[in-house]
Amino acid sequence: MNPNETPKVKFYSGHDVPIELHKVRIVQKLHLVPIERRLQALEEGGYNTFQLNTLDVFLDMLTDSGTNAMSDNQVSAMLRADDAYAGSQSFMRLQKAIEDVLGQKFLLPVHQGRAAENILGKAYVRKGSLVPMNYHFTTALAHITEYGGSIAELLYDEAYVIDSVHPFKGNMNIEKLEEVINLHGIENIPYIRMEASTNLIGGQPFSIQNLRDVRAIANKYGIRLVLDASLLGENAYLVKQREEEFKNSSMAEIIKVMTGLSDIVYFSARKLSSSRGGGICTNNEKVYRELEPLVPLFEGFLTYGGISVREVEAMAVGLYETLDETMICQSPEFIKYLVYEAKKYGIPMITPPGVLGAHVDAMKFCAHLPQTQYPAGALAAAFFLISGVRGMERGSVSNQRDEYGNETYADMELLRLAVPRRVFTLSQITYVIDRLHWLYENRELIGGLKFVYEPPVLRFFMGKLAPTSDWPQKLMAKFREDFGDSL
Ligand SMILES: Cc1ncc(COP(=O)(O)O)c(C=O)c1O
Repeated sequence: MNPNETPKVKFYSGHDVPIELHKVRIVQKLHLVPIERRLQALEEGGYNTFQLNTLDVFLDMLTDSGTNAMSDNQVSAMLRADDAYAGSQSFMRLQKAIEDVLGQKFLLPVHQGRAAENILGKAYVRKGSLVPMNYHFTTALAHITEYGGSIAELLYDEAYVIDSVHPFKGNMNIEKLEEVINLHGIENIPYIRMEASTNLIGGQPFSIQNLRDVRAIANKYGIRLVLDASLLGENAYLVKQREEEFKNSSMAEIIKVMTGLSDIVYFSARKLSSSRGGGICTNNEKVYRELEPLVPLFEGFLTYGGISVREVEAMAVGLYETLDETMICQSPEFIKYLVYEAKKYGIPMITPPGVLGAHVDAMKFCAHLPQTQYPAGALAAAFFLISGVRGMERGSVSNQRDEYGNETYADMELLRLAVPRRVFTLSQITYVIDRLHWLYENRELIGGLKFVYEPPVLRFFMGKLAPTSDWPQKLMAKFREDFGDSL
């Protein structure tokens, strides 16, 4: 067996248990504070899990962004960083990694994924522009609208089915894409955006066949194809698992096929390479020259782009490591385990299990709450209260208001429980399932939320909410009744 392939380890008991092919060598102490303190923390943080302090958080499942565990090789590479404003050898090593792993000749470094979105927006989006995409990501949408553009989300209907067996819910609807281009005019479409492992609908991948179909339309109309590769490694892993044509291909081959079909590849290195930073890359020199001047303007010189050289080194090593299936499989396999174990208790989860986290369907979990009371936000707050586990609201709180200031309700109300790479143990995942089970049995006690402070942009980060009744106190009382003095 190739040591970099997904481990196939059968248990004598017959249980399907994801086994780690790494050992833990550096640890960080966790804090599990009593529920009374957790309630106080929620009140201080305006019932927004972004506003919690990690001293109050037991398992931090907010995100996988910048929270994946680094490897020994990444950390040791950081020590050889070449601190130079211009011409740093660290950048040269990163450039080589981009060419080797992503097959792209030109690299523009940026401080993180949204900085790439800002540069693409500044270069290509104008008032009246429309960007077709499989689905939006919060920061991608915010930058497009900031530059006067709008978006068209073109998923197939299956994508919105919560409990599904469709392997590629992130696929772009090809017929609709062509319709949208004809309706709005090629001249108003600066690029088509494909997001690998579509984040906001449950980390759902697209297939390579779908990407080829999108490429054919992009060619037919002469429109650029932009790949958001932040979660490319995981999308490639699921292509290998689920797309017949690629079941015997290596991660390296799959990734190169995907990037090779795109004109521009951008990414958040906080996700893609378990480091910090981000990048925009291309094989098209004209595109490179169009974007190049914007990097020193917004980010920093072309050989660091606002990223510390230590992180540049970690990024280069991390990129090579995404080709190692024993690394890349860990998070999706833990997610799969969490999802199917939770479903045994009837907990409504997004299926098939995707990447970056397990997603709980708050619309069904809190069926008694209308969307006007933010069921996903309420579920995220309630779950933190009873477990100390911090998830993220991915529903209407994460949506932005429309151009007239009206509230827009999300297609899905999700509690995302992120599973960053190689961070949690299986007993911690078991704890998550246990507390989720208890909360599901007591779900009628969860009440709604309302905004008390709402910032104009990306409101989910800084917004403050309040419960619509004293439901958190009642939920806490029930917890004490059932768990006694347990943390
Ligand atoms: C798909 C996707 N694109 C872009 C971004 C933005 O990246 P960053 O947080 O590094 O700005 C993210 C971050 O979570 C993401 O998931």
